[in-house]
Amino acid sequence: PNICVLISGNGSNLQAIIDAVAAGKIHGKIACVISNRPDAFGLERAENAGIPAICLDHKTFEDRESYDAALMETLDSYAPDCVVLAGFMRILTADFVDHYLGKLLNIHPSLLPKYKGLNTHQRAIDNGDEEHGLSVHFVTPELDGGPVIIQCKVPVFSDDDAGTLAQRVQEQERHIYPLVVHWFCGGRLTMNNNKAVLDGNVL
Ligand code: GRF
Repeated sequence: PNICVLISGNGSNLQAIIDAVAAGKIHGKIACVISNRPDAFGLERAENAGIPAICLDHKTFEDRESYDAALMETLDSYAPDCVVLAGFMRILTADFVDHYLGKLLNIHPSLLPKYKGLNTHQRAIDNGDEEHGLSVHFVTPELDGGPVIIQCKVPVFSDDDAGTLAQRVQEQERHIYPLVVHWFCGGRLTMNNNKAVLDGNVL
């Protein structure tokens, strides 16, 4: 299977997927990495791994529709079986999501349905939560609302700030996301009737 990864920044999740493919833990090929930001460090990670690294700068497009249409066209030229959002910090149009429905994955740094959107770590702290975490889910047109595949919890400590908590969550992200991509590429994970199904079991 062809995996295409969309990023906006550091790309630590991308790196984890690159490493897992190199280690034979994901049976697939990273066909391309696309960033909406020219300065994303993840583009360098892709280049270092010999993966086509493309910048499609959203600032050079008039609106969301035209950006997403261009993104779709670029992506489709790599014939993706799986589109992985890895810190891609843009809301996607329903047209885009529908086009890749069932093969579009996202990682979100909260225990969904809690804290959809941004600033999840600070919101968990402000709310006095004792647990926080991450969710990997299929993307549907509802923002951060698609069926959850797997979640991982971490503790929140009293001296945490958003930075220390984010670090604790991200330490788990780099183990969980490659595993999900591995399941997907092995044909074990699908989305049916808006539900995530792994090995025939509804999650
Ligand atoms: C991760 O925390 C992810 O959950 C969120 O954005 C961050 C991206 O980090 N959506 P990186 O670019 O993979 O290092």
